[in-house]
Amino acid sequence: MSGSHQDAIERAIEKYGPEAICEALASMLSVERIARIDSVLDARLTSVITVVEDTYDPHNAAATIRTTEALGLGELHVIEANERFHATAGITRGSHKWIDLVRHAEPVAAIASLQARGFRVIATSPAATASIDDIDVHTPIAIAFGNEHAGLTPQAIGACDGAVRVPMYGFSESFNLSVTVALAMSRIAGRRRDVIGAVGDLPPDRRRHLRARWFALKVRGVIGVLERRLS
Ligand SMILES: C[S@@+](CC[C@H](N)C(=O)[O-])C[C@H]1O[C@@H](n2cnc3c(N)ncnc32)[C@H](O)[C@@H]1O
Repeated sequence: MSGSHQDAIERAIEKYGPEAICEALASMLSVERIARIDSVLDARLTSVITVVEDTYDPHNAAATIRTTEALGLGELHVIEANERFHATAGITRGSHKWIDLVRHAEPVAAIASLQARGFRVIATSPAATASIDDIDVHTPIAIAFGNEHAGLTPQAIGACDGAVRVPMYGFSESFNLSVTVALAMSRIAGRRRDVIGAVGDLPPDRRRHLRARWFALKVRGVIGVLERRLS
């Protein structure tokens, strides 16, 4: 799925409105497919966000995208101050299409942008004293993960609202990056779902927009279809 195709879908949603897009495309999707889209929308958890900094291994990048999407989280923020985030296509298995990947040039502004949206941003480090289970999940929360060798930069750690470790009991000094993302985000997303008493928390406007985007992503030649049916 090319970025320009996704951009064209976004422009179409802007131009025609999400309801018109869904109406125009519904007859081209099976009832089961629409039900599946609606059940994934029901489970989208927007108040938990994954952040990674300077990920250089494309396998870790891909696994991070796939885990974030599979857990029902909608956004992955990548900080690329020193390393470009590049995912191995075969490993994402198409999951990149269903999340918003937000790129940032440097850590302090990236973390501040999430804090300005009401997220607390918590760093992860094997050396932290607090545990992942100590994080208060009563408010929106973003969890930041560092580079495979060096961990999070001091700038990122300094900008975060705290730091936690994922407990380890063996001889190894750290988990693999994408393994830590899976362990930590699974735990945090589960606890957040318990606290809000729901599997998802998509605001209605966002839900309408995503529904139109996902309908469009499922239809071959969708831009031509929309031009014929809506122009
Ligand atoms: C391979 S580790 C990097 C190790 C690096 N030497 C350090 O001390 O952070 C890559 C990333 O995975 C996460 N990580 C790995 N093991 C962890 C643990 N036990 N607790 C918290 N985060 C961990 C951190 O985000 C870390 O930056």
